[in-house]
Amino acid sequence: MDKLDPICKQIPHILHGGDYNPDQWLHMPEILEEDVRLMKLAGINSASVAIFAWRALEPEEGVYNFEWLDRVMDRLYENGISVVLATPSGARPAWMDAQHPEVLRVGADRVRNLHGERHNHCYTSPYYRRKVREMNALLAERYGKHPALTMWHISNEYGGECHCERCQEAFREWLRDRYDGDIEKLNRAWWTSFWSHRYGTFEEIESPSPHGENSVHGLKLDWMRFVTFQTRSFLENETAPLKALTPDIPVVTNLMGTYPGLDPWKLAPSLDAISWDNYPRWHSDERPTWEMAANIAFVHDLNRSLKKKPFLMMESTPSQVNWMPINKLKRPGMHILASMQAVAHGSDSVQYFQWRKGRGASEKFHGAVVDHCGHENTRVFREVAELGRMLRKLDGVVGTNVPAEAAVIYDWENEWAVRDFQGFHQHRDYENVCKEHYRALWKRGVSADVIDMEQDFSGYRLLAAPMLYMLKPGVAARLRTFVENGGDLVLTYLSGYVNETDLCWLGGFPGDGLREVCGIWNEETDALYPSDSNRVCFGENSLGMEGEYRAFEVCEVIHAEGCETLAVYGEDFYAGMPAVTMNRFGKGRCFYIAARTDSALSDTLYERILTSSPVKPVLDTVLPEGVSVTRRCGGTEEYLFLMNFSETTKTVHLPDGFEAADVLEGGSVSGEIILPVYGVRVLRAGVRTDLS
Ligand code: GLA
Ligand code: ZN
Repeated sequence: MDKLDPICKQIPHILHGGDYNPDQWLHMPEILEEDVRLMKLAGINSASVAIFAWRALEPEEGVYNFEWLDRVMDRLYENGISVVLATPSGARPAWMDAQHPEVLRVGADRVRNLHGERHNHCYTSPYYRRKVREMNALLAERYGKHPALTMWHISNEYGGECHCERCQEAFREWLRDRYDGDIEKLNRAWWTSFWSHRYGTFEEIESPSPHGENSVHGLKLDWMRFVTFQTRSFLENETAPLKALTPDIPVVTNLMGTYPGLDPWKLAPSLDAISWDNYPRWHSDERPTWEMAANIAFVHDLNRSLKKKPFLMMESTPSQVNWMPINKLKRPGMHILASMQAVAHGSDSVQYFQWRKGRGASEKFHGAVVDHCGHENTRVFREVAELGRMLRKLDGVVGTNVPAEAAVIYDWENEWAVRDFQGFHQHRDYENVCKEHYRALWKRGVSADVIDMEQDFSGYRLLAAPMLYMLKPGVAARLRTFVENGGDLVLTYLSGYVNETDLCWLGGFPGDGLREVCGIWNEETDALYPSDSNRVCFGENSLGMEGEYRAFEVCEVIHAEGCETLAVYGEDFYAGMPAVTMNRFGKGRCFYIAARTDSALSDTLYERILTSSPVKPVLDTVLPEGVSVTRRCGGTEEYLFLMNFSETTKTVHLPDGFEAADVLEGGSVSGEIILPVYGVRVLRAGVRTDLS
């Protein structure tokens, strides 16, 4: 695996910095002076500037003020701090909303917003698109050659949707294109004969609404696709002047993890690198630390998988956030551990929201590197500064990648469909079930990509595709080829029910030919009340699975059609019928878990699958609970990150003969490693040939 160039070519270091809002402090120039001193103390090498600065840049329509930004850019550069310069489209000045109300977003209830908040403009408005282009061109002309400029940060956290008349018209255009101008094609795809909802013309179509159309799932799916399409079109409109004037400066935007409203796989091709904002609920009472860590690892791996390249963690809090009901402080050590976790999964940055706490408005109590006390003598500042020193030792990691032979399919369009359909059990939990499968790999130190169903499967040896309710065109055939060629595929209940417009597959589930790959037929889907449960009982089976597990929420009543039954239901009229199966198909195996079960079942199933799979963990050892290990490599080097996400000291036994350099502490390690609570170690070794 090759080592890649740094995302910002001028900076061969892990970026350490984050949102810096000098436009909030222009009336206190001494604060800006002090910021530079403190940034250097904290080992900051990058500042993301002017994210919401439209009013400061254009105080009245056509009147511009860049002088303050000139000073900030110069001053940061003189002090060795590079700039990620934002375009300000994430929030608009009041004059714009007052004079051009078309920029204000219209909700699904068809009510137009008032001025206020942020992230709430119309993506179609020709005026807003023109203004954004003009503003971005001015920024690129003025700062394109500024030595501090390393990257463009487009807008901020794109999200939401607009239902104004312009957006409706753009939606109809998009539909005309998708259905070749043929309204009957659309009617068939959406099953609109239902309740007499057949459309006569494209003009009759409106976006979904709580007080309008809400039952035609094909319409709702296409609307979600359109929202992503239109956002991407807006993004490309923003990017065009930057690409024209500064073709060598990478363009990124901060994505929001598994935010369902936009499909990041469709945005990714329009971005030069992926970046995302990471705000886990550490130390909460909802789950143990290791489980939270694994769930976050899933999202890091998803972001890495979007381009199969290093990404940036564009935001995180150094201490607490302000928008949860309960905003707990990160305990000592957690900031360094959580930041290193991002790097361990492929991030080439640790960036914060935000550098300095503002004095007023809603984010004044959000964690920041510099608190209201204004100096460096705080616990948070010290931990950030210590992390800054550690990151400087990781220059060699920049540009290394994370090879993976396993992948979990977590697909946005499938998520929309699974969330929306009516029937069976309303509690679906698609994301959590995908994370459950991912956790089984994480616990065992197996690197995994997180991909959507349109990606190429051929490079993997193990694929988990939980609740793959929707099968887009060609997906079943590609899964079939994957298994035929020797891959292990794990499917669960709710697989293969519908096509890409939510039309049920005819001829028996799982549809579109997947039935043969699984060797099962799903005749009925039972839903269980919260007080109900069933038992999944393993009998004699070739995988060596044993014991009983609890099933709840959904139990499919399936028939074995040539597969091996690994477990059967223990209760109800389908007692004795298959609950977990394995089908040898071609050179591979297809596993089917027919019910929602406790995660212990999938955990043990993967453990068994891995014993007879070519997929290997990155370290050949049994990891203690809470310890995670990841591997980044490129060129002739590889780095192993060992992290303790638990509240007790852990010992990791290194394989016999294993020796590596300790990157953070110096010296070499072999034998065993003691990881204190929230401890992290980074090891450097030569690339092994037994792993790809
Ligand atoms: C988001 C935004 C930031 C800030 C943080 C607070 O990530 O992008 O501007 O509001 O949340 O956590
Ligand atoms: Zn609109």
